[in-house]
Parts: sequence; structure tokens; C-alpha cells
Amino acid sequence: MELTHRPRRLRRTPAIRRLVRETVLTTNDLIYPLFVMEGEDQVVEVPSMPGSYRYTIDRLLKEVEEAYTLGISAIALFPVVPEAKKDNSGTESFNPDGLIQRTIRALKQNIPDVLVFSDVALDPYTTHGHDGVLSAEGEILNDETVEVLVKMAVSHAQAGADFVSPSDMMDGRVGAIREELDASGFDRVGILAYSAKYASAYYGPFRDALGSAPKWGDKKTYQMDCGNSREALKEVFLDIEEGADMVMVKPALAYLDIIHAVKMATDVPVVAYNVSGEYAMIKAADRLGWIDGKKVMLETLLSMKRAGADIILTYFAKEVAQILGKHPDF
Ligand code: PBG
Repeated sequence: MELTHRPRRLRRTPAIRRLVRETVLTTNDLIYPLFVMEGEDQVVEVPSMPGSYRYTIDRLLKEVEEAYTLGISAIALFPVVPEAKKDNSGTESFNPDGLIQRTIRALKQNIPDVLVFSDVALDPYTTHGHDGVLSAEGEILNDETVEVLVKMAVSHAQAGADFVSPSDMMDGRVGAIREELDASGFDRVGILAYSAKYASAYYGPFRDALGSAPKWGDKKTYQMDCGNSREALKEVFLDIEEGADMVMVKPALAYLDIIHAVKMATDVPVVAYNVSGEYAMIKAADRLGWIDGKKVMLETLLSMKRAGADIILTYFAKEVAQILGKHPDF
């Protein structure tokens, strides 16, 4: 047979395939999300996220050190806030001696080279579990919430956060946070904006981990409708205009088209959040022996990079680093 085109020639051996691979996943691409709780010397597995844990600060330091040794140089922090500290407007969120603020200080004292991304949203701190201040009529108030978020972001910067990550989807919060950070002398602290964050059922296991599920209703008046893509670009452009250094698409797996669109339309780093439900699905099917979890994990994360993600937030970060190894600077 005389064939002009034989694309299989470039797939013939592992060496050729390595040479012509267009997208690679490296440990450098990863941010490792971690749950922190009050107490001492405790590690508790999240039931719906096997292999993911809530740590007390002392044990979290050990985990971050281990991850750093494997080549992970960025983490994202989420607090398990005791019920007694919660209220309607999440005032505990800007307590200078709050759990997150103490965690950031401890990290910066002990492992200063690891980048700390701190989440800025009220849901772990409110009695109702929503990401904002609730009115008597049951509405999530935008501008009142932004005021609290600004205080929270500044308190994280004071504690030593490298990036603050507003994940709340209130209008105008990126600009307000940027302005107040600058006015407080924190022009070096960056903003990773959760710009295109969808109202998603994939966040279930995360809400189990933090005990932060909304007590009633859903988050559809502030998080985006999963049928929309042009609206994602609108949100992304607004956040960049307001001063976001990086933008995020969340969730990742069911939103690869959005990641691609954002990558094409912008010139800032694009972050994908491989969320708790995406993690749980792979872990569950692996446990049942239905898929090869490690292979599916790598293929899934690589698909996010192929779609256009520069950075991936993933609970798999440590596992991936164990497989891919540490990467040299150049
Ligand atoms: C808080 C927040 C959520 C997640 C990250 N930050 C939950 C939510 O919006 O309800 C979800 C992360 C995950 O599922 O892994 N605003």
C-alpha cells in the first residue's frame, strides 16, 4: 500500500512520543490545597476525599515541608472554623489571631519559600454557609460582603500571604481588595481571582471537609450558571481590569472549554481548580477497581493543561509530585 501520510510514524516508540508531545504536566504547575483545623497534633481524613486530610497547624507544617521537598512550592489554605466562631457576616474571617492568620504566620516563619494562597470568602465563617452577608429578606448582600472581604484580605496580607484568592463571586471585590491592599502597603501581595466560578455540584466533598454547606438554598445568585460561557469572559475581563494577577476557572474537568476560551482571550496566567468532586470521583472508581486511578489522574490533569491552564490547584498535587519528581529551575 502506498500511503502518503503515515501519522503513526510519530507514535512508533516511547522516545519519539516523548519528543513530539505537545503538552507536559510538571510539579511546577501545581498548587496544593490544604484544610487546616484548630487543635494540636491531629490529622483527620476527609471521608469523601480519601487521601486528603484536615491538619492542625503543627501537622500542616510537616505536610507542607514534605510537599516542598517533593518540589511543590505553592499551597492554598482553607479553614475548618468552629461553629461557635461563626456568625451572620463572618466577622471571624478578619480576626488577626484567627486560624488562617495563625497558620499563615507559622508557615512563613518555618517554610518561607513556599507560596501561600489564602482563600477570601465568607462561607467557612457564616452560620448559614453562604459566601456573603445575609439580609433579613434572605438575600446575599453584595457591597456589605465586599467590605468584609477587604478586611479579610488585608488581615491575610498582614499575616504574610503571598496571594489572596477571592472565591466568593461578589461584584467588584477584586478592585476593592486591590485598592485596600495598596493603601495598606501590600502592593506586592497578588490576587488570584476565582473569576469564572460556577454554581457546581462538584464542590460537595469540600463542603463536607469544612462543614460549610449552605444551610438552605444554593449559591446560584452569585456563582455562575453552568450553561454560560460568554459570561465567563465578562467576569474574567472585569477581574483583570480590577487588578487580578491571575484568573481561575472552577471547576476544571467539566469546564475545559471555558479554560480554553479564557486562555485564548487573555494574557494573564490561567488557573484551573481540579475541585473536590473531581478528585472524589477518581478516588472512588479507583477504590472499586473500575479504573486505574493514577493513570486517570495524570490524564485528567494533563487535559487541563492542554485546554490552556498554566497552573492547576489539585488535591492530587503530592501524589503527582511523587510520580513526576522535582523539576530543576531551567
Ligand atoms: C468557598 C470555596 C468553595 C470551594 C473553594 N472555595 C466552595 C463553594 O464555593 O461552595 C470548593 C473547592 C472544591 O470543591 O474543591 N467559596
